[in-house]
Amino acid sequence: MAQLREAASHIQTHAAGFQPEFGIILGTGLGALAKEVQVEHTLSYADLPHFPVSTVESHAGRLLLGTLGGRRVAVLQGRFHYYEGYSMPEVVFPVRVLKLLGIQKLFVSNAAGGLHPDFGISDLMLIEDHINLQPTNPLVGPNLDELGPRFPDMFAPYDHQLLAQAESAARELGFGPRVRRGVYASLPGPMLETPAEYRYLRTIGADAVGMSTVPEVIAARHMELPVLAISVITDLASPQHLKPVNIQHILAAAADAEPRLTALLKRVVEQQA
Ligand code: HPA
Repeated sequence: MAQLREAASHIQTHAAGFQPEFGIILGTGLGALAKEVQVEHTLSYADLPHFPVSTVESHAGRLLLGTLGGRRVAVLQGRFHYYEGYSMPEVVFPVRVLKLLGIQKLFVSNAAGGLHPDFGISDLMLIEDHINLQPTNPLVGPNLDELGPRFPDMFAPYDHQLLAQAESAARELGFGPRVRRGVYASLPGPMLETPAEYRYLRTIGADAVGMSTVPEVIAARHMELPVLAISVITDLASPQHLKPVNIQHILAAAADAEPRLTALLKRVVEQQA
């Protein structure tokens, strides 16, 4: 808690009282959103006390404070993954700091493999539920009572109102059938899955699989933050579509979806009451 408070007060000092309404984690597929933000303050993770530093090349390590569609946002440009060697408390450190800065809602994106047979490359999936297959989770250890309860409820991990708003924004923007809902399974990675593992994930009810998001969502729900999370389907992992993938194809599919994901999220943020 002391480290979280120190990081938050450092940000408050350097951002002269800027008070964000919403937090956004820019995963793969949302990088371009940063260009839509009227940035007022940029803080490098390396300069923030106790912040982990990003090691993945495709992720910048910066906190942007500014406005998006006229709303005050705190944007985490670059996230931390368990496979990079961070502990789960490190993975969720930034989202906890954003909560201390006063955000009221959290928006998250990621890249994911599609398990639902109807999904196509570069479709967007609004996450409506998840299956946590990470080896551990950020709430293990002494509970941070100031953040939330020991046994947080997980009945509705993804906010129903935000899901409905995202669906109507997708309709208004004409993205219709390429925006779907589904269940996201989170695995540690960093390797992709074997064919048998993809079949197993489908069998247990997952529509998409990735290596992030669920730790941050668990931490957010512990703090009772409403969450909207969106996956970009970057490769197809259902048995009839499965073929070898590489990271270049994944990044290209994410880049293709980026303008739609950016427009969708901007519209939802603008419309918040
Ligand atoms: N599996 C796990 N993580 C991923 C995938 C996948 O197929 N695609 C993008 N991230």
